[in-house]
Amino acid sequence: MDIIEYAKTLLLSGKLEDKLLDPAVIESYSGSCIDNDLKHMKPKREDKIIFSDQQLKFPKKSTFHLDERKALAMHFFANHELLAIEMMAAALLYIPVEDEYSKRVRTGLVKTIQDEQKHFKMYVNRINEFGIEFGDFPVNDYFWRQMQKVKTYDEYFSVMALTFEAANLDFAKYYGEIFKSVDDDKSSKIMDVVYQDEISHVAFGVYWLNQWRNEKSLWNYYKESLPDLLTPARSKGISFDSEGRFKSGMDQDFVDKVKDYKDEFIVTNRKEW
Ligand SMILES: [Fe+2]
Ligand SMILES: [Fe+2]
Repeated sequence: MDIIEYAKTLLLSGKLEDKLLDPAVIESYSGSCIDNDLKHMKPKREDKIIFSDQQLKFPKKSTFHLDERKALAMHFFANHELLAIEMMAAALLYIPVEDEYSKRVRTGLVKTIQDEQKHFKMYVNRINEFGIEFGDFPVNDYFWRQMQKVKTYDEYFSVMALTFEAANLDFAKYYGEIFKSVDDDKSSKIMDVVYQDEISHVAFGVYWLNQWRNEKSLWNYYKESLPDLLTPARSKGISFDSEGRFKSGMDQDFVDKVKDYKDEFIVTNRKEW
């Protein structure tokens, strides 16, 4: 199949196994499908994992000695991976990209999708070991709702790579430590794989924004590219991992500005995921 068919399968097939389809099936990276209607729909999902309005609280770190709480945390993470797959598929489908960049942007996105599929499977295998199935807890669509505001690849990379995936550097490191503190090395190792891969995903976004920003600083270009109501506060977790950000190619100025950035969200909201 071509890249467009592949992306459509990931986004629009309700079957979970189709969302995990190996990119090796892609025979061609050309083709186009700029279908704006896709933006207004939700990814198709099996009944058991359909988006819910029910607001489930992320488990407190003081409860991580309990398998069921750890499973719940990883259930959140698994849903984020699945959302990432769907958002990346949506980007492939409806964001136009100039021919000169098209092949490299598309192959990079597909490589990232492959990593997210791997992460999803690692989390689900682990929660299965705790006796939980994916879909046993309600799942939310917060990330998807942000994706619906994205119209261009500079916006996409600002939202996905420099905001959500950058925040995940902090979260992956933070929860990796927490799992370690309750002697759960197996879960901690999963967080480390995610962390290492996430550096390359953030780097992918940093690379393209640097290509396109012209005279602007990365910081200004990034901020201007964020959709309404999304601020750099969302690009940080509970702790702040400078090291991973530097490895992803962010410069000192950018890392300092993110670190110092404050808004309402930090004050009111950042206790939960
Ligand atoms: Fe991931
Ligand atoms: Fe990622």
